[in-house]
Amino acid sequence: MKEAVIFDLDGVIVSTDEYHYKAWKKLADEEDIYFDTQINQKLRGVSRLESLEIILKKTNKTYTEEEKENLAQRKNNYYRELLKSLNHEDILPGVLNVLDALKEKRIKIAIGSSSKNTGTILKKIGLDKIFNAVVDGNQIKNSKPDPEVFLLAAKALGVEPLKCVVIEDADAGIKAALAAEMKAVAVGDAQSNMNSSYRLSDLTKIDINKLLEDG
Ligand code: G6P
Ligand code: MG
Repeated sequence: MKEAVIFDLDGVIVSTDEYHYKAWKKLADEEDIYFDTQINQKLRGVSRLESLEIILKKTNKTYTEEEKENLAQRKNNYYRELLKSLNHEDILPGVLNVLDALKEKRIKIAIGSSSKNTGTILKKIGLDKIFNAVVDGNQIKNSKPDPEVFLLAAKALGVEPLKCVVIEDADAGIKAALAAEMKAVAVGDAQSNMNSSYRLSDLTKIDINKLLEDG
């Protein structure tokens, strides 16, 4: 049986993935760059600056590094404006029940997110005290699909990677989990990812025994 569950944040714990989309869309519209939900799929789990590079593939305009930093900062300002209204009700369906069930079974829980806004978000939704470890975009050099964030989370929990399960809504996150030699569970937008070993539309339907079984 697995000993720890590492949760992605945006799109798994909380609906902030929609805010990321809205903020990038506003920036892209202002810069007259084509952007849609399909391109947005590629940004899930990917760092802010890498996301910007993916968006900029749709334009012939060239930006200096400093301009790119400014664009990323502008997107983050729009995003943080949207975060102001975030609260406990934005926790995705089934999440609180899963966290309770895992706590009851004394399974360790962690966050493994590429987001530098993780601390702010966890506070706003009232989940800043519940996780045994939180590893986020401020602690890593390489974002998903690199396994760094999940390996650091396992280390912080004191659990070997093979005994960890990752829950993800991003293809990049599933890749990262597998690269870390962890079991990958896909929810939401990643539910058609056949590389994951358990796929669900949302966490309301999760079977905790199946989540924790080895393999
Ligand atoms: C998460 C989201 C990505 C986002 C990244 C960085 O992984 O899925 O869409 O780009 O975090 O977020 P940040 O809050 O640091 O801009
Ligand atoms: Mg996500």
